[in-house]
Amino acid sequence: MLAGRMQVGIVTLFPEMFTAVTSFGITGRACRDGIVEVACWSPRDYAKDRHGTVDDKPFSGGAGMLMKTGPLCDAIAAAKAWNDKTPSVIYLSPQGRRLDHTGVTLLAQRRNLVLVCGRYQGIDERVLKTEIDEEWSIGDYVLSGGELAAMVMLDAIIRYQPGALGHEDSAGLDSFADSNTGLSLLDCPRYTRPREFAGLTVPEVLIGGNHELVRRWQLKQRLGQTWLKRPDLLAQQSLDQHEQVLLNEFISEYGTLPT
Ligand code: ADE
Repeated sequence: MLAGRMQVGIVTLFPEMFTAVTSFGITGRACRDGIVEVACWSPRDYAKDRHGTVDDKPFSGGAGMLMKTGPLCDAIAAAKAWNDKTPSVIYLSPQGRRLDHTGVTLLAQRRNLVLVCGRYQGIDERVLKTEIDEEWSIGDYVLSGGELAAMVMLDAIIRYQPGALGHEDSAGLDSFADSNTGLSLLDCPRYTRPREFAGLTVPEVLIGGNHELVRRWQLKQRLGQTWLKRPDLLAQQSLDQHEQVLLNEFISEYGTLPT
């Protein structure tokens, strides 16, 4: 069990963007309930000149600017000082460790974080060396800044804070995290009313009300969906005999894969 609320300080030139996480839905409620405390620091507030300059020319010349070191470091220092305990300082960039389910559960254990969002061409290498503890990426593509990546990370982490979701173990039943089987699987198909939609019906087993059969069907579908859509994910894990039987059932019912 995790002790106490989580504190996340964000260093960003665009603090307003974070209201998307702090004001809406599950993550908004977690912030309002004090499960997680999020606060932003803008390098702009630490700019020394009357223009509020927060960018600077790279020594290499050429196109593009870097974040100006002074205001950036002052904002990082303020975000660190705000945390009750020494935070891990994380820089979001495509050069970082790729965020996945394992990474999310790891970061969700931390009580104190500072997320540094780069803009322009990024930050000075010496700031990276001296101020940043860890570098994380949300995928092999380039965003216009670290904010959306930090928001993705924040949303995923907040889901794992105790009390953030209505039902205490709902996060344990998300795709990738099955606390019952210990497997990392995709989600199963889900259905709501009406019973017939676009000429397609809801699988009978879901209507029958036999919870044991529903659980069996759901696990079989999760195994099958992962086999169909993410064979790489399935190849990394070992199934027990029951799971193998269910997957074999799914495969034989599905027929051969179209090439
Ligand atoms: N900043 C720009 N692109 C990014 C990415 N893919 N992940 C994290 N931060 C980024």
